[in-house]
Amino acid sequence: MWVRYSDEGLDKMEKSVKMHKVAIIGSSYSKFGRRTDVRIDELAWESFKEAMTEAGIDQRDVDSFVVSNVGGWSSELLPAIVVGEYCGLFPKSTMRVEAACASGSAAAYQAYSMISAGLADVVVALGVEKMTESPTHLAIELIGRAGNYFWEFENFGLTFPGYYALYASAYLHKYHAKEEDLARVAVKNHHYGSLNPKAQFQNEVKVEDVMSSRYVAWPLKLLDCSPVTDGSACVIFASDRFAKKVKHDPIWVRGIGAASGTANLSKRKEFTGLESARLAANKAYSMAGLDDPLKETDLAEVHDCFTIAEIMAYEDLGFAKPGEGVSLVREGATYKGGKIAVNLSGGLKAKGHPIGATGLSMISEVSKQLAGEVGGNRQADIKHGYGIVHNIGGTGHYAYVTVLSTERGED
Ligand code: COA
Repeated sequence: MWVRYSDEGLDKMEKSVKMHKVAIIGSSYSKFGRRTDVRIDELAWESFKEAMTEAGIDQRDVDSFVVSNVGGWSSELLPAIVVGEYCGLFPKSTMRVEAACASGSAAAYQAYSMISAGLADVVVALGVEKMTESPTHLAIELIGRAGNYFWEFENFGLTFPGYYALYASAYLHKYHAKEEDLARVAVKNHHYGSLNPKAQFQNEVKVEDVMSSRYVAWPLKLLDCSPVTDGSACVIFASDRFAKKVKHDPIWVRGIGAASGTANLSKRKEFTGLESARLAANKAYSMAGLDDPLKETDLAEVHDCFTIAEIMAYEDLGFAKPGEGVSLVREGATYKGGKIAVNLSGGLKAKGHPIGATGLSMISEVSKQLAGEVGGNRQADIKHGYGIVHNIGGTGHYAYVTVLSTERGED
């Protein structure tokens, strides 16, 4: 396959790249939540073992593994080495990648790049994070530092709930939306979390529960926030020729796009959407040949680290025009059976958000949904065979969008 697209970050230079097809042959994620029962390497093994079993391979088939982990709150400075040794992957080539809350997608991007460039046939992307060992204030301070320590964190004490509160208050003001609209996102995602045995929170909540939960950073309340989570997730990517040997119908990566945003929020032009997410989506859609994602896609896992982030994602991904994402929430159009099913896993809000693992858990979810393997009341109706993963680090400091499909696509 030959792909041509212009990359605005490179002065609109035209790029032309010969790429090999990339398939997903196995994936999994661990139980998310407070996991004091395991060390970081044992936690990573849980999802790697399940993904490897699903793929029908063993460690000898793996060419390389990429570990996504933000760290900071954990004592492990070389997580790729520790995880690789425990998982029996020594002496395969490895690296640790970091893209804040989008680290899992960064690992997927690296795995995709290696296979599509012909450097490897099988690459394991393995994300792991243990956050709950730190008190919340320390975990949050570290997340805040990851955003922009010297400017917003040190001078103004702004942490991530605060960052997204700026976006939420701007959105509510500009589009006359209400706090109850944000609450409806949490109600939907807790509903699906209640159906997902691996989710951190498996309880339903009502709009009144969200509205009466305590404020964390106005207008965001406790139940508008994703939690602090431990968990791991693994996706095994393979070349076309290897995938054919182990899977009859693998899921295919049809598009993958990435972009970044400024560290200093005062340099941003707008506070009701994320420019980096739109750039990443445009690249991924262009690769996948998607013209109208709302009409051509069955489901999406989007980065709902705070409820406002899911509404902005609808708009940045082109499911709704600016200011109209909130209408999708009011209409219930993003439940299963609606215009597009979003976050049937429970999302970051209820499934949990172990930041190095989140992106890979989203890719695992969408790939299992497309394969019809989720089942039960969480299984989306698959008509078009396309699904989208939208994974954001910080408030758009990093953005990754990945398009998966049941169809391999033409060469
Ligand atoms: N949603 C629902 N319930 C939550 C919750 C959340 N996000 N976070 C904590 N809780 C619950 C806990 O389970 C606990 O319940 P219990 O008393 O029944 O056991 C209770 O609230 C208190 O938990 P605690 O951990 O003491 O809360 P906290 O005030 O220290 O932390 C937040 C709450 C919202 C501040 C914290 O979860 C947070 O900062 N989340 C955002 C994480 C983040 O920024 N991630 C990166 C995004 S880009």
